[in-house]
Amino acid sequence: MNLVVVSNRVASGRANEPMTGGLAAALLPVVENSGAIWVGSSGHVREGSQKEPFAEIEALGTGALATLDLPAAHYGGYYEGFANSALWPALHSRSDLIRVSLEDYSSYREVNAFMARALLRFKKPDAAFWVQDYHFLALGAELRDLGVREPIGFFLHTPWPSSAVIEGVPHHRELIEAMLAYDLIGFQTEEDCENFHGYVRAELGLEIHDGVVTSHHGRTRLAVFPIGIDPEKFAQAAAKAVSHPDVSRLRRSLNGERLAIGVDRLDYSKGLINRISAFDRMWTAHPSLSRTVSLLQIATPSRGSIEAYGTLQSEVAKLVSDVNGRHGEVDWTPIRYLNKGYGQPVLAGLYRTAQVGVVTPLHDGMNLVAKEYVAAQNPLDPGVLVLSSFAGAAKELDAALLINPHDIDGMARQIAVALKMSIEERRERWHAMVRKLKVASVQAWFAHFLHVLSDVRRTPLQAATRPIVLELASRRAANNR
Ligand code: F6P
Repeated sequence: MNLVVVSNRVASGRANEPMTGGLAAALLPVVENSGAIWVGSSGHVREGSQKEPFAEIEALGTGALATLDLPAAHYGGYYEGFANSALWPALHSRSDLIRVSLEDYSSYREVNAFMARALLRFKKPDAAFWVQDYHFLALGAELRDLGVREPIGFFLHTPWPSSAVIEGVPHHRELIEAMLAYDLIGFQTEEDCENFHGYVRAELGLEIHDGVVTSHHGRTRLAVFPIGIDPEKFAQAAAKAVSHPDVSRLRRSLNGERLAIGVDRLDYSKGLINRISAFDRMWTAHPSLSRTVSLLQIATPSRGSIEAYGTLQSEVAKLVSDVNGRHGEVDWTPIRYLNKGYGQPVLAGLYRTAQVGVVTPLHDGMNLVAKEYVAAQNPLDPGVLVLSSFAGAAKELDAALLINPHDIDGMARQIAVALKMSIEERRERWHAMVRKLKVASVQAWFAHFLHVLSDVRRTPLQAATRPIVLELASRRAANNR
């Protein structure tokens, strides 16, 4: 199969480089070993019409990385506009933050069409296209309009909300009808998939049989593929990172004090205000934890030109400063707050240093930080994961301390519980989680999706996808034992 993977953001392929967002970091290790061509935005724009849209095509593992300069006239409307000011807030159930114009939607469609034209270069007899994420909901339909008949799959890394929320997105019907040009649509959780079913049935009036919907485009299979990580590789990186200068400086600076860690893009879906408020509450309720536990919060700036993100950045900075002012001492800073990104190897070492990992989004498709934190722990003395039940990862990592991020007092109590947890309980919870990470690795995720995609056109309607996926997962796990 000549696989073409498409996403807006791609990884650079250079080890140690900071990577924004889970998608690029998660895909890199699997794409580079698959021989696929990974196509995405170069991060630059170009004026006028282009004969050759590719900025660069370079080797990436056994395959290649091809980046495009997107059209300058449409980039803002596409990325800051429709993708991140209409779709992103809606997908994370924040309809109140939708800000969008008709021009933004036109730009979004233009960029999807532009990408489709560029992809024709990679259309070969044995090609299959795998489109990633909400930036390219309509790319499959554009490819079909250009005559592409090869399999095209789509995976959504974010949640899919209830119909009432998605209906807040202008042109939702047109877009979701366009999505049905994909042969396979993958979701992170059953709930996301169910919500999509609900829309297709109620709004489009289409029947779904055994996970397959038939529309004027043909048949589309809807299925769940929770994305994973490579836990063994991450564990090795974490053990090795202990000697990294940033990690050893952090360790020295702690002076026996314990550490909680949060690592997020600065995004309203991540629940940063609630998390910091919970630490504030904890230090107030348990003065004995002052000076003995601090929080390292890495918050990588993101989408800064969108108003909601600018506002959030100021709010979080102010709250951190208030909390530090209230609880700090001449020789102790409760929250170490950093607005920059770190490469995976350093992050792995930082996770291993922290006794508590706090992953408390209000809504999240999966949240790979939760999985990485678990994988990075020292098996003999593992830390505790405090995890929002509204992250996709909570469906698998149910041995974490699950919290409701809207309940600040409850979250404060659970962080204190994590800090007091016995080594036996920590090990028991950690083993339960690591077992799941190994079965549902990113390699298994990648292989399952492609297996189902290649099967979609051959499989008769009554065959169910879910058992195929589960059966493959357990077969692979058995082989790996
Ligand atoms: O959650 C899906 C995702 O693609 C993540 O990988 C990433 O955090 C985000 O959406 C996209 O972020 P950005 O706008 O920085 O590319």
